[in-house]
Amino acid sequence: MTTTPTRPTAVPSIEQLPQPKLRTNTDIQGNILAAFNKDFTDFRYLHFPDAAKGRGWLSAILNTVATTNETEDFNEQYSLARRAFGRDPALTTVRCGVSLTFEGLMTVAGDPDQVKKDLSGFPAFCAGAAARAGDLGDADESGPEHWLFGAGTGDKAVHAVLIVAADTEELLKEKLKNLDAVENAHRITRVHMDQGRTLTGPLKGHEHFGYKDGISQPGVKDFHREDPENEGFRDNHTGTELIEPGEFVFGHKSEAGDRKAPAWMKNGSLQVVRRLRQDVAGWNKAVVEGVKNFTGTMDPDRLGACLVGRAKDGTPLAPPTGTLTGIGSDRNDFDYENDPIGQHTPWVAHIRRTHPRAFAGIGDDKPKSHRLMRRGIPYGPEFQGGADDGKDRGLMFVCYGTSLEMQFELVQQHWANDPNFPPGDPTGDAHVPNGLDKVIGLAGKAEIGLADGTAGTVDMKRFVRTTGALYAFTPSISTLRLL
Ligand code: HEM
Repeated sequence: MTTTPTRPTAVPSIEQLPQPKLRTNTDIQGNILAAFNKDFTDFRYLHFPDAAKGRGWLSAILNTVATTNETEDFNEQYSLARRAFGRDPALTTVRCGVSLTFEGLMTVAGDPDQVKKDLSGFPAFCAGAAARAGDLGDADESGPEHWLFGAGTGDKAVHAVLIVAADTEELLKEKLKNLDAVENAHRITRVHMDQGRTLTGPLKGHEHFGYKDGISQPGVKDFHREDPENEGFRDNHTGTELIEPGEFVFGHKSEAGDRKAPAWMKNGSLQVVRRLRQDVAGWNKAVVEGVKNFTGTMDPDRLGACLVGRAKDGTPLAPPTGTLTGIGSDRNDFDYENDPIGQHTPWVAHIRRTHPRAFAGIGDDKPKSHRLMRRGIPYGPEFQGGADDGKDRGLMFVCYGTSLEMQFELVQQHWANDPNFPPGDPTGDAHVPNGLDKVIGLAGKAEIGLADGTAGTVDMKRFVRTTGALYAFTPSISTLRLL
């Protein structure tokens, strides 16, 4: 910890230091490029009583913050062992990551005025998630006045988000015991905490509505390898292409070359945290009842798949494109080029609205600059079926990127929530706007018309409600060290 008044703005040395390769990078925190991928992941939303205590806490936890290098090393060992032995290996570990909100940065920065000036190109981050809620459709039940964190002021203002992720509950508990002691020693208070837990048994890897999640992620140049043989990444292929690292980490080449940031943000990333409560009984009932509004061959499973874009086991509705002919449910080798009006994957489908893949017609010349690196995990007990049990369950949605405006906010506001997306083709019927995202969008009608003649209207309320949200900055290890 240091009291040098100009920090964290003066970190010119990072620019000058030779950068390790992305895969072995020891300056970028883990979970941005390489996922923690842990079954037990706690989230702590913390408040610093003052600058000294905040800095003291940051320097005390610095050594526990995971790097990309160790995170990726572990992940590689794990998958090599799994391939070799044909089962999940008994490798376990615990990983931590820390991010600071705008208020948190202002509290610990040596020169807050300079940091504020440095951040003038980041209006969403400076305003915070609660201030942007109206634009993102977070009103009524989802409004900030109901949030568990992210909208508070005074001692309820969140300054830091600490993610503690472990392979076993025992490891997590042990780590949390140490972290509790550090929090207490520095009088850090907890505004709220959440326990992310992967679902178990046949639902492992699925979210609470029952659909397999975490299948489609952007590949990053110099980090991920092309692996076309195994449905892996393929450059210049709309479903699985590799994207410039600067879309997710500051200080690296970006797609449009416009992700500029001050030197102290290099190797850092912007983090979105959204606590999204899911009404599973409501969703189940809506897909059963929704079938009645269709002619042709519709059933609840097919309707659900139309709303997500994939069946519950992950199989996409989109037929494969390219040379692969569909190997397994995690297939990601497709685009929507041959399905302009959504006869296979309706335009209302969550995966189509949040990642339209074949971009012709959506009025955008920088298609690769809207991808999100998603790192979510479910929270709350598994739904046992039947009527609503009133329990709080949902998704801790987390994503990383270098522009809140062009990535998360654009996807949520303009793609999921805008009934006029895609914008429509005045000269023909391609890309006719046909409804909002039914998973994360606002309530409203959506038209579905499938290739086999099955057609109808979905008229659903919202079954996902925002119960907390934050924007934070995940600094590099070297910037953390200087705070
Ligand atoms: C993909 C569920 C929130 C963006 C998916 C998939 C599921 C899912 C089942 C398919 C699995 C996959 O392709 O990886 C949910 C649920 C949510 C939620 C239940 C809330 C409770 C969000 C939010 C966003 C988002 C808030 C962003 C604003 C995406 C994206 C994909 C995706 C970009 C990948 C699409 C693709 O590349 O094909 N989600 N999601 N999701 N989701 Fe969500």
